[in-house]
Amino acid sequence: MDPDASDEMVDHLVDFFDRVAPVYDTWAGGQHGRVATRLVDLATPSQNEQVLDVGTGTGLVANLVAPRVNPGLVIGVDLSENMLSIARANKAKNVQFVGMAAEHLVFRPATFDLVTMGQALAYFADPTTALAEANRVLRPGGRLAVSCQRRSLNTRAQDLFFQGLVPLARRHYLSLPRYSSERSRFGEPDVLPEILATAGFDLMRMTEMVTGGRTHDAREWTELMAGAGPLPYTLIRSLGPRYRNELEAEVEAAMASLGDPDEAFRYHHSYVLAVARKR
Ligand SMILES: C[S@@+](CC[C@H](N)C(=O)[O-])C[C@H]1O[C@@H](n2cnc3c(N)ncnc32)[C@H](O)[C@@H]1O
Repeated sequence: MDPDASDEMVDHLVDFFDRVAPVYDTWAGGQHGRVATRLVDLATPSQNEQVLDVGTGTGLVANLVAPRVNPGLVIGVDLSENMLSIARANKAKNVQFVGMAAEHLVFRPATFDLVTMGQALAYFADPTTALAEANRVLRPGGRLAVSCQRRSLNTRAQDLFFQGLVPLARRHYLSLPRYSSERSRFGEPDVLPEILATAGFDLMRMTEMVTGGRTHDAREWTELMAGAGPLPYTLIRSLGPRYRNELEAEVEAAMASLGDPDEAFRYHHSYVLAVARKR
């Protein structure tokens, strides 16, 4: 994994999270909270443990860990000030939220018993360095708990929609920075354990989570997909009413082209969750 992020990409990403912060916890009926709950259960935090939540966002994972480790401390770090301010508004008393990059943790080696990264690894500017930093700040035998989206279980409707975004951007003269496509494979059950092994961790537990549903129409579909990442968000939010109607007509046509009403407007939210021990 090469660092493949320009400063422009990081700014674009943080801008996206700053903007979606107010609706992050309610997106897709609280989907992020459900994944956070599963990750925390899998990580089995226990009383008195010291925990670091990297890419904490609105603090979903950190705030669920806090009562389990109390009086142990939880620290959540992130680059998006708007995400962090929501995290701080909901925080338990043994949690602190700090602006910090996953790649440059200020903590001493062997400080934490558990490091969590909920749906964050694929967004980091340099995932390899972020994992090396997690390894450094964990005590020997400490645990790393990671959740990643498993994109290969996307539905045909999602595949079709996401394939259409790049030509759509081109048509509207929008040039948006993107990470390499290698990252979309981080959440595959044969890829994540390898990434963790390379970073000096032994896999302890791994599980999968697949949920999904269908939207009623193209308006609901585009609203949902706008929250799925920086590219759809920037594109969909940049369209005025006429182009938005045009996009929705294209989405309707694309769904009809699937030739199966059951497949149209169907989406999956799939994740792989793993806990690994520092070697
Ligand atoms: C999808 S959110 C995950 C939030 C939360 N952990 C959860 O489980 O829902 C990814 C978070 O990673 C943060 N992030 C992205 N790059 C980062 C970096 N290099 N260092 C720290 N945080 C970063 C983003 O600002 C965003 O809040």
